[in-house]
Amino acid sequence: ENKKIVIAIDGHSSCGKSTVAKQLAQQLGYIYLDSGAMYRAVTLFALRNKLASNGTVDEQALISRLAEIKIEFRVNATTKQNETYLNGENVEEEIRQLPVANHVSPVATIREVRAEMVKQQQLMGQEKGIVMDGRDIGTVVFPNAELKIFMTASPEVRAQRRYDELTAKGQQVSFEEILNNVEERDRIDSSREVSPLKQADDALILDNSHLTREEQLQWAITKAQERIAK
Ligand code: CDP
Ligand code: CDP
Repeated sequence: ENKKIVIAIDGHSSCGKSTVAKQLAQQLGYIYLDSGAMYRAVTLFALRNKLASNGTVDEQALISRLAEIKIEFRVNATTKQNETYLNGENVEEEIRQLPVANHVSPVATIREVRAEMVKQQQLMGQEKGIVMDGRDIGTVVFPNAELKIFMTASPEVRAQRRYDELTAKGQQVSFEEILNNVEERDRIDSSREVSPLKQADDALILDNSHLTREEQLQWAITKAQERIAK
């Protein structure tokens, strides 16, 4: 039997990390874990409990209630995709909407929140055979991952991709507000003190500004197979 590896995919917002991570996991028969969904679920909890609003977060109040937050991933029987559950409720749709997107980066700067998420992510990856995407997977969560990919694309390309996705679902959003959100999250994610978004020294860069989903998948599979064979 083939050896199982850990694949860490980090990078800027909306560049296609989860798309390629999901496809890689499917092809390799690995688990896919969307670490961003966990920060989004914590953010939804904060919004619902009035611990966040107008772009700000009551950090101490949120920290004091962290033990009340239970995040799980369950496979949808029809689509076979993982869906995010917050305290037993399916929140997969709601965590992708703009109110969450507009508060998630401030929530993700909180040291105690990150410590709890990282602990859970490391547990889920201890058997290997996992593809995880996020911002700090190759640098903090799995510094020993056999394959690390750092993805990026221009802000306009990324905003357009996110815009197309949301409008296809019938959401009323403007390109401008999406571009603002993408740039603002990149700024906060890259400049925060705890586990900032940065390329691990041993990560391979994948700029997919001009690649199709097929092309980026082929690139990633080739790299994964090299590491599995090693
Ligand atoms: O998919 P998208 O690029 O929009 O973002 P995401 O992966 O769902 O992550 C949402 C936010 O969670 C990011 O903008 C970060 O602020 C935070 N995040 C993080 O800090 N660390 C991670 N490992 C994953 C996400
Ligand atoms: O996880 P992350 O936020 O990095 O991005 P995503 O949700 O996987 O991808 C954002 C959008 O870009 C999705 O609608 C993808 O289908 C699309 N896309 C892509 O992932 N890769 C390309 N080469 C072109 C478009």
